Amino acid sequence: MNSTSLSEELAEIAGLKVRTNVPLARFTTFKIGGPARVVITPERVESLQAAMRVLSASGARTYVMGNGSNLLVSDAGFDGAVIRIGSSLSGMDIEGEDRLRVGAGTMWGRVLRFCAKEGWTGLEFGAGIPGNLGGAVATNAGTRLGETSDALIEATVVTKEGERRVLSRAELGFEYRHSHLPEGSVVVEVLLRVERGDPARISETIDAYLAQRRRDQPERESSAGCVFKNPPGRSAGKLIDDAGLKGIVEGGAIVSPVHGNFLVNQGGATAADVLRLIERIRQRIRAEHAVELELEVRLVGFE
Ligand code: EPU
Repeated sequence: MNSTSLSEELAEIAGLKVRTNVPLARFTTFKIGGPARVVITPERVESLQAAMRVLSASGARTYVMGNGSNLLVSDAGFDGAVIRIGSSLSGMDIEGEDRLRVGAGTMWGRVLRFCAKEGWTGLEFGAGIPGNLGGAVATNAGTRLGETSDALIEATVVTKEGERRVLSRAELGFEYRHSHLPEGSVVVEVLLRVERGDPARISETIDAYLAQRRRDQPERESSAGCVFKNPPGRSAGKLIDDAGLKGIVEGGAIVSPVHGNFLVNQGGATAADVLRLIERIRQRIRAEHAVELELEVRLVGFE
């Protein structure tokens, strides 16, 4: 199906925002990346289900994007459809005594502010995770203190065939920074375990974690968080730092002088600049430690 007929067919779905030829840089925290052929934003789950059926029938390539905070998009962009899950699929509700139901487009930070205000504990480990809950489940986002799967009871997804399915934590097969979502599916809702707690204490804990993060990481600059996974038992940031690679530059991209596992767009960096830095780092760490650094950031549009 050509681009025009695909976007026209999508545009007929109620509750679906459809845009064509959209630069993706503005949707990523790296502020890097060329255009996508189509970007769709569902306002409700039913609209997404209808869109998934159209996309499957069209054979178009798809990429599911949350907050774009763990993502490097190629300079050429993405010749397919980006499904963007944002604030329209957000919201929170306590269920029973110990469960929090969250829309996939809700940001981690908003969940924590709610918990601090209403006195629900158990999620403080997520303080500082930049993404939304859908992306956090898909990538099992985490910190040194825990990962999204630790608190997850189940997630509701829409499959590429447009079916709504509820998957348990076990079915999602979580690993370090990885989940086994059914291929091409989109997380739309998440059920988390919480407990009653003291609002003041929860706030204090979250504030302390955020303050530490501000000290250790380049918070205000354009980056995608940690670029590499930590190799078993080691810190990628420390390996990069010890190798003297902080501050090296390729075009507009630099290895952060604050934390070695953060690559920063200093303004005008291209995806090619970032890839050159990634390659230089990998080569050096391979040569010095015989360690193969694996990417944590997702790459889109490079095939
Ligand atoms: N370190 C250095 N130099 C550096 C960076 C780190 O010496 O340039 C040292 C630190 O001093 C510390 C150790 O290495 O002793 C570990 O560093 P840190 O506590 O910053 O943790 P990390 O392993 O580098 C992990 C997550 C981060 C998360 C932090 C804090 C990964 C790949 N990274 O970083 O997650 O924010 O813990 O909880 O698992 C992300 O996933 O995008 C991310 C930033």
